[in-house]
Amino acid sequence: MQVFHQIKPLKEFLRIQRCNGDNIGFVPTMGALHEGHISLVKQSIAENNITICSIYVNPVQFNDASDLLKYPRTLESDLEKLKIAGCDVVFCPSDNEVYGKLPALRFDFQSLDKVMEGKYREGHFNGVGIVVSKLFNMVNPDKAYFGQKDLQQFIIIKNLVEDLSFDVELICAPIVRENDGLAMSSRNVRLTSEERIEAGLLYKSLQKAKSYLLDGKAVSETISEIKRFLLSSSCIRLDYFEVVESNTLKQVNLISKDIQISLCIAAFVGEVRLIDNIFLHD
Ligand code: PAF
Repeated sequence: MQVFHQIKPLKEFLRIQRCNGDNIGFVPTMGALHEGHISLVKQSIAENNITICSIYVNPVQFNDASDLLKYPRTLESDLEKLKIAGCDVVFCPSDNEVYGKLPALRFDFQSLDKVMEGKYREGHFNGVGIVVSKLFNMVNPDKAYFGQKDLQQFIIIKNLVEDLSFDVELICAPIVRENDGLAMSSRNVRLTSEERIEAGLLYKSLQKAKSYLLDGKAVSETISEIKRFLLSSSCIRLDYFEVVESNTLKQVNLISKDIQISLCIAAFVGEVRLIDNIFLHD
């Protein structure tokens, strides 16, 4: 496994691979890798000649300085996990390498970044858009892999790729879950043992809402029930529970089989903010 810290040698290496006819799969991450990331890497290995994973904690997408400080950084064990998974290339640049100067560019994703995470994390998706654009320009991948857990991020990147004509195929891979259904996340390691047990309620609430809606309960009533259900936990503080159209992220008031609907949740469990989502129809 080759590890690059600088853009120039990385680009040169990838140029040679491309000349040899290899196609390139890319898994962008912020490190603290878990089985969810590794499943993306394995999917990329299965579908491409060369798989590259980036590990970069992008400061520009953090609206909260303490969240950035607390973000787990585990480079050595990440490299070990990637090596075992069979990843070909790792790119872990410094801040200076990625941002020689902070970009003046600002993205506006219209309604897509004004809802859900966008409401609670101002500037977050601008930062994601900037770093993903930069990484796509550095790596120039044929395919790029993202997890469904960050559904809003995926939809925004999909729009970004269309709007800027990036020549990359995006793949949204299913969420990898713990035994109790908790979505794998780099943030889970920050949960205390009591919070870790309570965190399982987030997935449970999504499942409950799904069965209520499929049984014909109204959306507003379902959301109220879920809010009541989560109030039973002393360590969970809900930011939002939304029923949205999966591609536009617009709120849905009436359930229909003709549109893909996602149930999305964000909540603090203790000090740790977690998100999750499921599709209404399998
Ligand atoms: O999903 C993430 O880990 C990050 O938002 C990403 C896509 C690597 C950009 O920093």
